Amino acid sequence: MMTEDQYFLGYRSAEWERLREQAEDFQPEAAWLFDQFGRLDGKSVVELGVGPRGCLDELAARVGPDGTVIGVERDAESVELARKFVVDRTLDNVDVRHGDARATGLPGDSFDLVTERLILHNVPRPEEIVAEAVRLARPGGWVAFHEGDRVGQVCDPPAESWNRLMEVTQRYADRNHINVFIGRRLPGLLRRAGLVDIRVRPVLYIDHEAGHPRRLVLADFAENLRDRLISSELITREEFDDLHSALRNHLADPGTTVISHLYVQAWGRKPE
Ligand SMILES: C[S@@+](CC[C@H](N)C(=O)[O-])C[C@H]1O[C@@H](n2cnc3c(N)ncnc32)[C@H](O)[C@@H]1O
Repeated sequence: MMTEDQYFLGYRSAEWERLREQAEDFQPEAAWLFDQFGRLDGKSVVELGVGPRGCLDELAARVGPDGTVIGVERDAESVELARKFVVDRTLDNVDVRHGDARATGLPGDSFDLVTERLILHNVPRPEEIVAEAVRLARPGGWVAFHEGDRVGQVCDPPAESWNRLMEVTQRYADRNHINVFIGRRLPGLLRRAGLVDIRVRPVLYIDHEAGHPRRLVLADFAENLRDRLISSELITREEFDDLHSALRNHLADPGTTVISHLYVQAWGRKPE
């Protein structure tokens, strides 16, 4: 049965702002990942699910004036934001297209590098996006993903607000066939899609001081989902609002340490 293609995080201006901040934060990790593919001058790259900016600036700098970067994004407002980002940064070698990462309509066997970050963690049927990425790569080209896994996401000291919001957001994800533990599946997904020379790198953050926006990820995700959690009857409005404000207070406390999602970078090559 086809599952509804629900996007876990939804679209709100606060979420776009979070994604922009997160893109800055992940810049060293994106740079590390793209370093694995040597010099990219003059190469052609596709980034799937760019949101309001993704890695477009990093990729544009790497392919240079003779290369091209195509960004694909499903949400029309995110496309407009990404296009504005491209204009503001004068990224003349970047073209942002409104389209579906499951079926981009771009030519197959064509691109030197196909990449994405944190789509699979938020949507059902991840294997369709992997298959499309592999289809787009040229023989000998690379596919590189950066995904999340809730495996170690904890706060210390523990808090009831954290535990309960982890539980209801996960139940919502399960109901919508979204795998918030997808990171651990990534190497297998790439292998089964036909890639070879698969490599993996874990990335994890421990935020032990108040102030870093990354500490707030669970509170931000829950807020994005608030109306959907309530209308799905996974939680009442009153319980949500009480827990959410308790969680924000707990995360603002300098005595609270937050361990992030485990992020999994995995990449492989399409056989010649
Ligand atoms: C968590 S955001 C990450 C944005 C960006 N990759 C980054 O890391 O900064 C995931 C993005 O994937 C997009 N998305 C989800 N499903 C998609 C699909 N089938 N095709 C294209 N984009 C999709 C969402 O609209 C959203 O902008």
